[in-house]
Amino acid sequence: RVVGRPLPHESAALHVTGTALYTDDLVARMPGALHAHPVQAPHAHALVRHLDVTPALAVPGVVRVLTGGDVPGVGDAGVKGDEPLFPAEVMFHGQAVCWVLGETLEAARLGALAVEVAYEPLPAVVTVREAIEAQSYQGGMPRLERGDVESAFAGAAHVYSGVTESAGQEHFYLETHCALAHVDENGQVVVQSSTQHPSETQEIVAHVLGVPSHAVTVQCLRMGGGFGGKEMQPHGLAAVAALGATLTGRPVRLRLSRAQDMSMTGKRHAFHTRWRVAFDGDGHLLALDATLTSDGGWSLDLSEPVMTRALCHVDNAYWIPAVRVNGRVARTHKTSQTAFRGFGGPQGMLVIEDVLGRCAPRLGLDPAELRRRNFYREGQSTPYGQVVRHPDRAVTCWEQVLETGEVARRLEEVAQFNATHEHTKRAIATTPVKFGIAFNFTAFNQGGALVHVYKDGSVLVNHGGTEMGQGLHTKMLQVAATALGVPLDVVRLAPTRTDKVPNTSATAASSGADLNGGAVLNACTQILDRLRPVAAGLLGCAAGDVVVHDGRVRADGGADDGAEDASLTWAELVSAAYVQRVQLFAAGFHRTEGLHWDSSTMQGSPFKYFSYGAAAAEVEVDGFTGAHRVLRVDIVHDVGDSLSPLVDIGQVEGAFVQGAGWLTLEDLRWDETDGPQRGRLTTGSASTYKLPSLSELPDDFRVALLQRAHEDGAVYGSKAVGEPPLMLAFSVREALRQAAAAFGPEGVAVDLACPATPEAVYWAVEQARGGS
Ligand code: MTE
Ligand code: MOS
Repeated sequence: RVVGRPLPHESAALHVTGTALYTDDLVARMPGALHAHPVQAPHAHALVRHLDVTPALAVPGVVRVLTGGDVPGVGDAGVKGDEPLFPAEVMFHGQAVCWVLGETLEAARLGALAVEVAYEPLPAVVTVREAIEAQSYQGGMPRLERGDVESAFAGAAHVYSGVTESAGQEHFYLETHCALAHVDENGQVVVQSSTQHPSETQEIVAHVLGVPSHAVTVQCLRMGGGFGGKEMQPHGLAAVAALGATLTGRPVRLRLSRAQDMSMTGKRHAFHTRWRVAFDGDGHLLALDATLTSDGGWSLDLSEPVMTRALCHVDNAYWIPAVRVNGRVARTHKTSQTAFRGFGGPQGMLVIEDVLGRCAPRLGLDPAELRRRNFYREGQSTPYGQVVRHPDRAVTCWEQVLETGEVARRLEEVAQFNATHEHTKRAIATTPVKFGIAFNFTAFNQGGALVHVYKDGSVLVNHGGTEMGQGLHTKMLQVAATALGVPLDVVRLAPTRTDKVPNTSATAASSGADLNGGAVLNACTQILDRLRPVAAGLLGCAAGDVVVHDGRVRADGGADDGAEDASLTWAELVSAAYVQRVQLFAAGFHRTEGLHWDSSTMQGSPFKYFSYGAAAAEVEVDGFTGAHRVLRVDIVHDVGDSLSPLVDIGQVEGAFVQGAGWLTLEDLRWDETDGPQRGRLTTGSASTYKLPSLSELPDDFRVALLQRAHEDGAVYGSKAVGEPPLMLAFSVREALRQAAAAFGPEGVAVDLACPATPEAVYWAVEQARGGS
């Protein structure tokens, strides 16, 4: 079987030789393309009193300035209708108020500088704490509730409360946002876009242009990373490029520079959570009562579904009998915060992991023991009412990590090390992950594919998912080759296009392989079912006995010893089928069965299954500076029966490192002063925003996939992988907390800010030394 084979990413050779093409590389193939440059507002909140574009038009090379009056359709780029494309009221520092088109990017840039805008500054809400103070919220206020929370607190042996904050995160995909639009020979508006959601980009472009969706085609060749940042944010940029192309009749390229991308596009939501928790005398969780407030930025974007996922993941892998969690989306004058790997799940799970890490010493329990004691057991269900299937898999991951990581022995070594080192301390922490797979919103759980078999037997696969480096295309090639029974090199993949597969969901929620794999499998099965009778006729056997494997077609039960009789090649079969007028192409469709979700009561079974994993991280902290290193990480992660093990291990490693970056390094800052810079992103470049790099990788990094983990009802028994392992990085944060505590008296409780930068760890060390 081709599925399950450890293959490199289908574009790996192109990636590493710099020959893989991205949207912006296609400009070279579009003679006469114009370049778009934004005019960015220098205020976090202001009215646009006056806009004069005439000085820009006098700049050599400037062709046109796009403003609100140019929009033939709806001048809004948000799916909620709350994102004016050419705003009269500036809602964040750096927002584009209009776009200049030039013969060169430099001409467009100079033109943008020449545009005259008069602003009337208004007061701005910058931090989530200010928003809470000002009661500045947007969207619905969901509540997820189970059990009698008040009596659980009343009867509890231990009650604690606190505030947990988590920071945002910049996606920092290598390829910044990019769109390239033109009108083709058929009058079709064609937009090449770096988008995780081509169908929605198509819809927004169509409504901005005031044309039906059939007049717009969006293609995504590949992305140089998306991480959720290209789920909704590409739409407005694609619409500006398409508008420019229709108005000038020339191709328009819009690519954000890194500085523009960081100042204009949304990031992970920061969260502020106020909580109360109750335990019994044995450290079992009894109740959690919490209010989660996310920093949504200026518009809703995906803030509501991100909050839903956060609320649905406050339990992580733990059984909490009574739960009441409220969600609120703050409106602040910042970029519109959006999807980011985990989609609110990490922010929700951080709450319970922070609670357990802070409370373990107060309960007099080892944190790992406290966690293990509260794991879900068979038959229990989540606060939203979904039965937790296979909770034993979390246990297996956990135990395997402890065993293969030799954690017991290493804990003794750590104790010895700490006893003999006054200024450096080490710790090992183990944390679990349980993550629900499927879109909460049931309708999105569908996928489509279009598979062509040509007369020579070669196969072209189209599917609705996008490739952003995660290896979806590699997996889809493996699924198609396995389903048809042909070698991998017979199958080729076409770029994602809305005119091939319509009405697709975003490639998101880690469900790309589940949904599109199901659709590809369905299309291939249809084709094979039509080919079987043809083969049966040629082989003189029953249709049900036809077996296609590795490009050979034979009757099941026939000699498998390489004998030449009673066998055909795949190409012979296909060619015979063509002559018999058998349809050699098929549209495939997949809908995930068994899902339901009621967003008004926050109850249902929104997820197809849960992904599980466990990680043990060992860190070392310097007591003078708070500087830290990750010495070793062991991971066991559940991806079902892996479709593509190398790809999956790469995803686990990448997600873990990205999670560790969020929790320990990356530190977004906005100007919070009252001056004219208020609301400006002050960490808007790689020199001020610290990303994980090779030197921050764990010194010793061991990733294993859980074996014999077949998942029924998923494509070839596989499970999603893209997001869940990000949350394994909680192990690093908890290890840092424990290492900081090791500077203080035995059993001291420590609070740790998030991100746990060296500065934050230093303050945790100081708290431990103070012994409070
Ligand atoms: N891996 C790479 N290399 N680049 C990415 O942009 N995005 C992540 C994850 N892994 C991403 C990635 C996110 S946020 C999601 S939801 C999934 O991939 C989406 O792809 P999938 O559904 O095919 O797993
Ligand atoms: Mo991923 S955050 O669901 O694009």
